[in-house]
Amino acid sequence: MIYLDHNASSPLRPEVLQAMQPFFSERYGNPSSVHAAGRACRQGIDEARRRLAELIGVHDSQIVFTSGGTEANNLAIFSQAARHAFHGHLLVSAIEHPSVLQCCTLLQRLGIQISRIPVDANGVINPDELLGHLRSDTILVAVMQANNETGVLQPIETIAAQCRQKGIPLLCDAVQSFGKVAIPFAEWQLSLLSLSAHKLGGPKGAGALVVDKSLSIEPLLAGGGQERGRRSGTENVPAIVGFGVAAHLAAEQRQEMTSRWRGWQAQLEQQLQTALPELQIAGQASERLANTSALLLPGLHGETLVMSLDLEGIAISSGSACGSGRSRPSPVMLEMGYDPELASSMVRVSMGWNNTQEEMERFTKSLIKGIKRLLHW
Ligand SMILES: Cc1ncc(COP(=O)(O)O)c(C=O)c1O
Repeated sequence: MIYLDHNASSPLRPEVLQAMQPFFSERYGNPSSVHAAGRACRQGIDEARRRLAELIGVHDSQIVFTSGGTEANNLAIFSQAARHAFHGHLLVSAIEHPSVLQCCTLLQRLGIQISRIPVDANGVINPDELLGHLRSDTILVAVMQANNETGVLQPIETIAAQCRQKGIPLLCDAVQSFGKVAIPFAEWQLSLLSLSAHKLGGPKGAGALVVDKSLSIEPLLAGGGQERGRRSGTENVPAIVGFGVAAHLAAEQRQEMTSRWRGWQAQLEQQLQTALPELQIAGQASERLANTSALLLPGLHGETLVMSLDLEGIAISSGSACGSGRSRPSPVMLEMGYDPELASSMVRVSMGWNNTQEEMERFTKSLIKGIKRLLHW
């Protein structure tokens, strides 16, 4: 199998599995228990927290472990809304992940006003436009660092400075960018940052919300008061341990991986554009993650291509994993101004830690052949 859908989920790194294994067997205690069995688990969580905090440049107490990126986004947004008694205004980019946009839909019903900042044809939001939408009653701004479909990076540093100046917290969804680009939380003065383990070779079921020291968090899950009262529930110890190791490895290999992916991305896109001159690459002119290419071609149906490549043992995606299965054009492509027909042709190729040059070469050939076959060329 050639797996090129790492933005949906990346396979577990062997070192991560190895680090997790004791926490499925001999280290079985409840991390809140005071006895040795409990302490053995607490130690695993503490170590993961320390590793994450060090990578982002924050204090350990600023990390709140969650079940993943979705919960981190929900926690950030609903917490802010609750702190303002569900009054006020929330500003989001139009291309946020559904785990942000769906929170907004719910909050709108509860009385919060929502503004969506559009992106340009290159998939980037204009910070000046965002500034123009900030209001005296804005309680939160949410802008992702890298888009899951295009990999396009947003000018987070500039946006963070604008928000900071107005005293409005910024939530940055870094689920796709964490481990791939730098996130200097303190230097950029970010307020809230969402992370997930399974996009970088960690397990599913672990994520984190990083919280600025000046912000307090209203818990979504009330109970035993774990995570300093910000997220109750007995911790998913094996997954949290795996998250720490995966994040550490991704950071250690970041430069090497980035230059490898960058080379493959350029080669893939160039060969495709030579073979298929009408092919477009969403966000190609923007600063993008090195591992992601979103391809569009008139006359093609993305989902049909995904299914036909699947028969050959190749995994790519026709949009975000949450969106696929529905046969509607990618909302991100529509927001970037592609017409619905072209938007429906979009397929996403996303590389990860275990891809090889040989796989990329075989994949490029199969992709070109597959597209030509579907278009009867
Ligand atoms: C940008 C972004 N945010 C949030 C999420 C949700 O993360 P999780 O799968 O850990 O809930 C995803 C997952 O695809 C994502 O791409």
